[in-house]
Formats: sequence, structure tokens, C-alpha cells
Amino acid sequence: MLAARLEPRSLAPSAGDITSTPTLSTRHLLGIAELKREDLLLVFRTALDMREKLLRPGHASDLLAERTIVNLFAESSTRTRSSFELAEQRLGANVLNFQAESSSFGKGETLLDTVRNIEAMHIDAIVIRHSVGGAPWFLAERCRPVFINAGDGRHEHPTQALLDCLTLYERWDGRFEGRRVVIVGDILHGRVALSNILALRLLGAEVAVCGPPTLIPRGIEDLGVRVFNRLEPALEFADAVNMLRIQRERQDRGLFPSTGEYAKYFGLNRRRMASMKKDLLVLHPGPINRGIELDAETADGPSSVILDQVENGVAVRMAVLALLLAPSAIAATHDRRGIEVPRTPAVA
Ligand code: CP
Repeated sequence: MLAARLEPRSLAPSAGDITSTPTLSTRHLLGIAELKREDLLLVFRTALDMREKLLRPGHASDLLAERTIVNLFAESSTRTRSSFELAEQRLGANVLNFQAESSSFGKGETLLDTVRNIEAMHIDAIVIRHSVGGAPWFLAERCRPVFINAGDGRHEHPTQALLDCLTLYERWDGRFEGRRVVIVGDILHGRVALSNILALRLLGAEVAVCGPPTLIPRGIEDLGVRVFNRLEPALEFADAVNMLRIQRERQDRGLFPSTGEYAKYFGLNRRRMASMKKDLLVLHPGPINRGIELDAETADGPSSVILDQVENGVAVRMAVLALLLAPSAIAATHDRRGIEVPRTPAVA
């Protein structure tokens, strides 16, 4: 819950005397697979600084005033699309929301032609969600703008993993070593799973997945994760549980008997929570199928950090946009431990 969020003092930026310009190791944000641990920590520290300064009424920045960003969502979205748009507005960018449903996609224009036409209008970045895995990479190799992947098919959803991990980073005082996270549910169809596995492993956490065998991809152990087919031992293993949504729209054949049966064996509810460790954290990327992945008491209860995730989504997306599009505007000082602490320029 937002009100219960911890504000660990050790994560708060503190004054130092060495100034540098922090940069990500990539030009685009396509997938967690292409990032280094230092990139993730830089995004977290920048996001915390921006959340402190910009996510309050009446606060905004002109950091991206010279930039034009296109939000190209060719698949439905509530959280990702609105938080990117809010993040862009808070940083003063010019924003164009591309309406895929009323565009020339429907007239047979290819994605590449569409993007090349948008590019010719002198834009700086494209935030893209597409049902085809790999679409952002395909475009980034052929077009000039900076691309940010807002979810590609079943493949990756990097900003979701960044906001999930930022939520845990705060709760765990920045330390992932010795922590265990289990990702429960539709691992086969969910892009959130792969991005979270990669990010959590990079940060030093132990990771497991849990679900019916039909929803667990064969060979997933090769990513260094444990597999549970029953929820109880998975919950005993974990310090945090990330309950994924059942992806009804990507499921072309019945991979479990019914949603009722799924809820019975893999849903988190009051009864199961009562026997779990008290400090178990419950995450969900949304949208929640209430009564299937989570019952209302668990989704809205004291263990849930779901609304923290949503708030951190805006902060993480501001950080990613600023680090990719205006890195020289973000100065960093080093704290007493030598850790780079990014600082957003003064805001209105
Ligand atoms: N978590 C997530 O990607 O939600 P949306 O589909 O609403 O953007």
C-alpha cells in the first residue's frame, strides 16, 4: 500500500562533491537482456530522485522540452500507456499518441512504412507496444529514432520489470542478494516473466517460477530458475511473489481446465496468505483478474505492493526517457560509498 511504503534512509540521495554524467550502456531500451546491472541501478536511483521531485502536484520539469515522443501502441494497454504519457508530460516533452486502431495499419500499410513516415516528421523517440515479438528490434535496426519497448508479444516488457524490481529495491533496502522471488502463473504467454527473471538474476536474487506444467516453457531452468508446480512450496521458498495475469487473449487452446480450477490451485487468497510468512510481498503487473490470480483481500491487503508498482511505473519511465533522451542534463554526485547518485535539474 502506498501509505505503508518504506523510505529507507540509505537510499536517499546525499550530497557529495564529485560530479559526473551517468549514462545507460544502450541507445534504446529494447530488453533487459541487453542491460547491465549498473544500468538497472542507474534507472532505480534516477527514478527515486525524479519521484521525489516530480511526482507531486504542481511539479514538472522541462528536461525534454526539445523532444518529440510518439506512443505507438498497437495492442491494448492501460498502465503502460498512461504512465509513459504522464512521464513524458512531467518532463515537458511534445507527445503524439498514435491511434493504431484508426491508422493506416487497417489499410495494409506495413509497420516499417508506418514508422518511416512518422520518422520523417522529425520525432526523437518511439515507445512501442506490438503483438509481434522482436518488433522493436526490427525497427531499431532500420530507423533513426530511439525505441523503447513497451511490451512485444510474449517476449519482453523491460519497463515492467524495472518498476517491479524498483518496488523490491526499496522494500529490501537496495539488496537483492539472499532474496527469493517466485513468479506465478502464465509464464508461457507472459512477457513480464522473462524480463523479471533476467532483471532479478542480474540484481542477485534467486528466482523461481510456479504454475501448471502446461504454462511453464520447457527448458526454462536454463535461465537459472527453479520450477514449482504447486503453489504452497513456492510460497514457502519466496520473500516476494509476483502473480501474473492469465493471458486469455494469447491462449489459443485450453492449457488448464477452467479459471475456477486455476484459482483453486494457483490463486492467492486469504486462506493461503494466513499460513505464509508475514513479510511476504505480493506483486501483480495488472490488469488483475480478481478472484482468479488474487482474491480482493489479498490484492488490497497489507502485503500487496501493487499500487506502489503503479506509482513506480511513472518514475521508472521518466528515468528511462531522461537517461536515453537527455543524459547530459542529469548530473550525478557520488555519495560517501562512491555510489553515483543522479540528480534531476531544478524543477518548476
Ligand atoms: N502491466 C501492463 O503492462 O499493463 P497494461 O497492459 O495495462 O499496460
